[in-house]
Amino acid sequence: MSPIDLRSDTVTKPTPAMREAMARAEVGDDVYGEDPTVNLLQERVADLLGKEAALFVASGTMANQVALGVLTRPGDEVICDEGAHPVNFEGGAMPALWGIQPRTLRGDRGVLDPAEVEAAVRPESEHFPRSRVLEIENTHNRGGGTVYPVERVEALAEVARRRGLAMYLDGARLMNAVVASGVPARRYAAGATLASLCLSKGLGAPAGSLLAGPRDLVRDARRLRKRLGGAMRQVGVLAAAGVYALEHHVSRLAEDHENARALAGALSAVPGVRIAHPVETNIVFAAFQGRSAVDLAARFRAAGVLCNPEGSKPDLLRFVTHLDVSAADALEAARRMAHTVAA
Ligand SMILES: Cc1ncc(COP(=O)(O)O)c(C=O)c1O
Repeated sequence: MSPIDLRSDTVTKPTPAMREAMARAEVGDDVYGEDPTVNLLQERVADLLGKEAALFVASGTMANQVALGVLTRPGDEVICDEGAHPVNFEGGAMPALWGIQPRTLRGDRGVLDPAEVEAAVRPESEHFPRSRVLEIENTHNRGGGTVYPVERVEALAEVARRRGLAMYLDGARLMNAVVASGVPARRYAAGATLASLCLSKGLGAPAGSLLAGPRDLVRDARRLRKRLGGAMRQVGVLAAAGVYALEHHVSRLAEDHENARALAGALSAVPGVRIAHPVETNIVFAAFQGRSAVDLAARFRAAGVLCNPEGSKPDLLRFVTHLDVSAADALEAARRMAHTVAA
């Protein structure tokens, strides 16, 4: 029985066609700006996000941290949702790397309220940290794959503009939001000073993210990438996977969303299971009443389903659909779990 891996959309392996594109990639030394495939990918993503320029970086975490590093100075504060990736899953990088602190708000499944953001902006005073960046995440991972309504993004951008904050869009799963909503990526990114896009989640590339924005800030980002040791050389082999993913793996994200809904539907029929939120994209949170998520994850693993405890509640598990999970796999995973829960 082969395991069905629903731990994350980061677990995908490059397809044979993607590997072929990687093998064929023209490369050069990207630290000299001479890798034609990296340059092509950066131009494509800058255009996709409606920005002047973009920079290829190693990971979503590096995109987030380089962005926050560019937009702040020590002592500054970043307003964001309490479930934001940089707050919870980046090893304490905000204070460790840049000497900045988060000001967390409780969003609605990760979606922030413009009035609450406005109220959180500190008055100018030597006593207070300087409110400097508003950070949003679309889709929102810890919110359960939530798609930010575009009007909300625009209202938040207006607050940021009025109150002198930069806005950063963590677009690790931005294309999931684009496919689910039909809203173009550049409209989501329009009010953001800097915006990122990750290639190694739903898009299925082995590594890499892009950070896009005005040319001068992207130049600053390049300096911080170098400082973090993230300036790589013949990295066109990875960029080629990104170019391939943008050409072939965007519209198919709709299948992942459909499979997530099918999985949630099948799980909701299992006694004692409650789907914790409407499934908008490729992430499902399911509460298994009275059970330990850690214990269940171990049992499910033995039954051929890999998943992770979500972490915010003791009975909550997270399931993520992706390129390497078919519609049949999603239903088979639900069947295996139902059997395990009943045993
Ligand atoms: C919303 C979000 N941002 C950033 C990241 C970081 O990406 P990486 O794991 O590539 O560093 C993740 C990873 O899952 C994420 O979910």
